Amino acid sequence: MYYIGIDLGTSAVKLLLVDDRGAVINEVSREYPLSFPHPGWSEQEPEDWWSAVLSAVPELVRDVDKSSVRAVGLGGQMHGLVALDREDRVIRPAILWNDGRTAREVDYLNNVVGRDRLSEYTANIAFAGFTAPKLLWIRENEPENFGKIAKIMLPKDYLVYKMTGVHATDYSDASGMLLLDVQHKRWSKEMLDICGLTEEQLPTLHESWESVGTLKAEVAEAFGLPENVKVCAGAGDNAAAAVGTGTVGEGSCNISLGTSGTVFISSEKFGVDPMNALHSFAHADGGYHLMGCMLSAASCNKWWLDDVSGDADYAAEQAKISPEKLGRGHVWFLPYLMGERSPINDTNARGTFTGLTMDTTHADMTQAVLEGVAFAIRDSFEVARALGINIERSNICGGGAKSPLWRKILANVLGIPLDMVATEQGPGYGGAILAMVADGVYPTVREACTKLVSVSSTTCPEPELTALYDERYKQFRQIYPAMKNLFPKIL
Ligand code: XUL
Repeated sequence: MYYIGIDLGTSAVKLLLVDDRGAVINEVSREYPLSFPHPGWSEQEPEDWWSAVLSAVPELVRDVDKSSVRAVGLGGQMHGLVALDREDRVIRPAILWNDGRTAREVDYLNNVVGRDRLSEYTANIAFAGFTAPKLLWIRENEPENFGKIAKIMLPKDYLVYKMTGVHATDYSDASGMLLLDVQHKRWSKEMLDICGLTEEQLPTLHESWESVGTLKAEVAEAFGLPENVKVCAGAGDNAAAAVGTGTVGEGSCNISLGTSGTVFISSEKFGVDPMNALHSFAHADGGYHLMGCMLSAASCNKWWLDDVSGDADYAAEQAKISPEKLGRGHVWFLPYLMGERSPINDTNARGTFTGLTMDTTHADMTQAVLEGVAFAIRDSFEVARALGINIERSNICGGGAKSPLWRKILANVLGIPLDMVATEQGPGYGGAILAMVADGVYPTVREACTKLVSVSSTTCPEPELTALYDERYKQFRQIYPAMKNLFPKIL
């Protein structure tokens, strides 16, 4: 039996074909454009995601018996607003998770509606990338489009809809809309009123592993698969990555070093950070999680080496960083290339290099980028530590985690061991696991993870380097507060 896991990312969609013992049989990916129509805005065409999937599935399943393919599970970029009209046509490009246009709406929600009320209704406050502020932005700036909205959904839900014809979502992804009462797993009537929506405009709510439908006849034909292939509700990409790395149940942690950088702390019980710096969301295993999300993580390295330095070879560039310089550099990088979410919640924040001198080399700046991202991840760790959450080790996944140097820097900046799992395709593998549970191969997500996920290597902190990075982190923490008031003046 075979299962398809789909990771709908920001730069590409990655598809995995996994057998019922968890072995990855095939892997196919397709890229699509990302547009920044104004500084700080970020959009994609939902049709591009769908065309990519349509062309990738036949290649994915080419060499296997098609009648043995049983179910599909997705993990998708979170928070993006996909709006459909009465004929189920996409009204405008999707506004993505890293879009910063909603500063005014966020201010209205947090300061006029009020953080306490938002937290009471949803367990969260407003952040620019969340879905509700985007709806308020469309209502204010594109009233004609707002008037056409018959259904809204999240990015991966659009793919589920295209495959099955069903408008469905899951609790983990719905948590990031600021429309869900996360604790009670139901839409918040108060938030719907605030956003001028009715429940009919929202998808139905499901646990991530629940099957919501089967392939439509024309989709089955295009995929080359039988119509009885089930499609489960799936999960937000961070919850799916947590499943894919076995970060389920009580107290385990996963760091994702992808386009975004996230710290995901799994919990059986519902809990809220009283300051709401960490998000309080549902998990794809039936429980909950706290999460810190930085908007630019591996994308900082990509920006620096591809866009600024000109298509550099990442490993070769990192090999130029002398090990003696780790923890001893004097160049600093603030990774706020798209503004920042956790924990500073500041759309005006910008990337900076500080501390440059005549002897600064390109390698010093590459090192500063890797360290700046690690320090910003530690910012979310510190919030968790202040809540009394003791993280003793963490899983790590995402494109950035493939770099042994970056893992070493991060393990020492955080002072904890970092585990890589054998199947490194976080959200896609998590999606395939959800599909297996949907098909009854495993009774629960947690049991599936116990059977299927294992650690393949660990990067341990080294006491001397951890101490050096502790000192450097104290210095890093002073840079943003010193610049904070300047950023809005230099936009
Ligand atoms: C999480 C978040 C990002 C996206 C990236 O809150 O916004 O991690 O899900 O795809």
